[in-house]
Amino acid sequence: MSGADTIRKVCVIGAGTMGAGIAAQVANAGVPVLLLDILPREGDDRDAVAKGAVAKMLKTDPAPFMSKAAAKLVETGNIEDHLDKAAECDWIVEAIVERLDIKQALYARLEAVKRPGTAVSSNTSTIPLNALVDGRGEQFRKDFLITHFFNPPRYMRLIEIVRGTETDAGVARRVEDFVDRMLGKRVVPTKDTPGFIANRIGTYWLAVAVNAAIDQGLTIEEADQIGGKPMGVPKTGIFGLIDLVGVDLMPLLTKSLTSTLPAGDPYFDTVRPMPMVDAMIASGYTGRKGKGGFYAFDKATKTKQSRDLATGEFRATIKPAPLPPGTEKDLAALVSAPGKVGAYAWEVLGKVLGYAADLVGVVADDVVAIDDAMKLGYNWQYGPFELIDRLGPGHLAARLAAEGRKVPAILQTAGERPFYRVEEGKRQFLGTDGAYHDVVRPAGVLLLEDIKLAGKPIIKNGSAALWDVGDGVVALEFTGKMNALDADVMALIGQTIPLVQEKYRALVIYNEGSNFSAGANLGLAMFAVNIAAWSEIEKLTKGGQDAYLALKYAPFPVVGAPAGLALGGGCEVLLHSDAIQAHAESYIGLVECGVGLIPGWGGCGEMIDRWRHNPMLPKGPMPAVAKVFELISTATVAKSAAEAKEQGFLRPTDGVSMNRDRLLADAKARALALAEGYEPPQPPEFRLPGAGGKAALTLAVKGFQAQGLATPYDGVVADALADILTGGEADLVDVLTEADMRALERQSFMKLVRDPRSQARVEHMLETGKPLRN
Ligand code: NAI
Repeated sequence: MSGADTIRKVCVIGAGTMGAGIAAQVANAGVPVLLLDILPREGDDRDAVAKGAVAKMLKTDPAPFMSKAAAKLVETGNIEDHLDKAAECDWIVEAIVERLDIKQALYARLEAVKRPGTAVSSNTSTIPLNALVDGRGEQFRKDFLITHFFNPPRYMRLIEIVRGTETDAGVARRVEDFVDRMLGKRVVPTKDTPGFIANRIGTYWLAVAVNAAIDQGLTIEEADQIGGKPMGVPKTGIFGLIDLVGVDLMPLLTKSLTSTLPAGDPYFDTVRPMPMVDAMIASGYTGRKGKGGFYAFDKATKTKQSRDLATGEFRATIKPAPLPPGTEKDLAALVSAPGKVGAYAWEVLGKVLGYAADLVGVVADDVVAIDDAMKLGYNWQYGPFELIDRLGPGHLAARLAAEGRKVPAILQTAGERPFYRVEEGKRQFLGTDGAYHDVVRPAGVLLLEDIKLAGKPIIKNGSAALWDVGDGVVALEFTGKMNALDADVMALIGQTIPLVQEKYRALVIYNEGSNFSAGANLGLAMFAVNIAAWSEIEKLTKGGQDAYLALKYAPFPVVGAPAGLALGGGCEVLLHSDAIQAHAESYIGLVECGVGLIPGWGGCGEMIDRWRHNPMLPKGPMPAVAKVFELISTATVAKSAAEAKEQGFLRPTDGVSMNRDRLLADAKARALALAEGYEPPQPPEFRLPGAGGKAALTLAVKGFQAQGLATPYDGVVADALADILTGGEADLVDVLTEADMRALERQSFMKLVRDPRSQARVEHMLETGKPLRN
């Protein structure tokens, strides 16, 4: 049986940063969790430590809980009174202080209460597994493993799992299956070595990059420019990342690695006194959580400040000169660039990639595990071996050899061959045996990325493509910049419908971008506005409505499968789907009012239809209208799929996939289940509250304006929205059809789009990414 079926209750011991976050993620999966900590130093409430952790998490942003309701699944207690309750749990996670003696003492107590076969795992970052289970009996050692989560546990997708030599394979598999399916993590099998994979390489990388910037006299801006985007490192760069994770973590990581790594490890060469970092920590400059770090924002002058690496003092941030042409995308050109760019890039890449290559077989069996760990644990866009492929394995080896440095065995094995290749439509990696092996996905994982290697789309244009994902299901993929929606997307939907009707059984709308879709392509719309091409805009509005309605009434099931942002038109396409299978981390909302517009592709009518069937609302048309007005006029975005259900963007029956890698397979299964005897929905009819309802909504907006919570123009936009939601001139006795509702949407949309104040909002959003409050 899988872990998803057999682990029905979890116990987490240690309610600190990690334990509390892990407990929240278990609760997010809908699984009850017991969270225990020590007794408080003072006060009568013996559960105060764990209770305090839950209370704190309810106020934390970004939120560890996907909904407030999830917090109710966390039961709190203490290890003195409630350790025997751990016996009722199917998996016990230890996340207490990083002290071997304290962990061992806890395990001795757990051994006395736990059932045989119940998994116990430690979240330790540094302590070897054998040391942890020293002194425990055979059964305990069989049931024990390390599950190393990353902070914050809800958002970081990596989990490194170490099985001991005695760990029972069945026990480990159940835990691995649970963290994969229920907690949404990608399991990376790791060997029992200090720092495991990600922190071992990540800490080395940061140390090398910081030292090189100091030694080569670079500014932190220059180092972050060279060591950031061109190497596929997140926007923060190196110094920005240290600020993000906490400057004070640096000496802690150094201490733990220097006390555990084997002598001769290259990491020791990077360790040196860092008086500047010590002084920063001592004065509260611990990074973003403190007063700032290497970067800071000076509130007085409203300027971004950067630390001078030579003096340690702050100065105004200086934007570095652009990188030499061609070096941003070509690593070989980057490391060969003249002057400090090439020197710095080579110092960092030569060392870090050499180090990673030397660790194949040591920290993990293969390069895939190392690449996965760095991509998911440190948010690198490319893993070390993908970077080596971009640089050229031969190039790296030759330059290391020319400088008299060690050429790692795996680089010698590779020669000129890449670490990854595609053979007969399958991605393969180079093993330590010198042969290529298929990259194998866990059962139930289906990725468009893999499907693309094996073939071509059924049809495509500049903004969308249609893929055969097997078993009679096709996937509609948005492909434009930011997955923006435009006339090409609508045209492709138009072509898709007869195709599916003729040859397939169902359609899923899915893509693997970081965001499902941020909405309509506003840049294009603004272009039309600027040349006053009103009929073009009207055509785009009507075209979008028609395409979405065609999806809704297509003679086959349509399943929307979002992950990340699904805003505006991206939300509306979901509202027209028969069912949704959403990634748990889906952020759905109708945000048009923020840019002075209203949802014009059917979002208003669909939302009313959702809410008026909600049994929680009082009878009559007004409650649903008021609710939808509130959601749309405030541009509410759900911060998880769970919240999207509460807000009616998703139906109670819609599915949620915790693991991003499983989303397509889950959506496909849902579509196939619906395909059996599928009947399209009946068009809804609307009875709306008319002028009386509109007056009530207008009054509410006036109230917000009086409190300074809404601007004068917000009132105009809200008025146009109220026109649609209340049925405009219609009276309660009138029945509006779906077509009437769409006509009202178009009317309000066109009115707003012609208003220069809406245009100013759109322009501002396009330029700054932020709403304009006019
Ligand atoms: P923390 O200091 O935030 O929390 C530790 C918690 O353990 C505290 O609430 C403390 O009261 C409790 N505790 C201490 N002794 C206990 C005992 N005998 N029984 C029950 N509870 C006890 O520490 P943090 O950061 O959450 O770390 C926990 C574990 O996770 C450590 O092993 C650490 O190495 C590991 N880890 C930490 C990461 C991080 O980013 N903070 C990342 C990955 C792993």
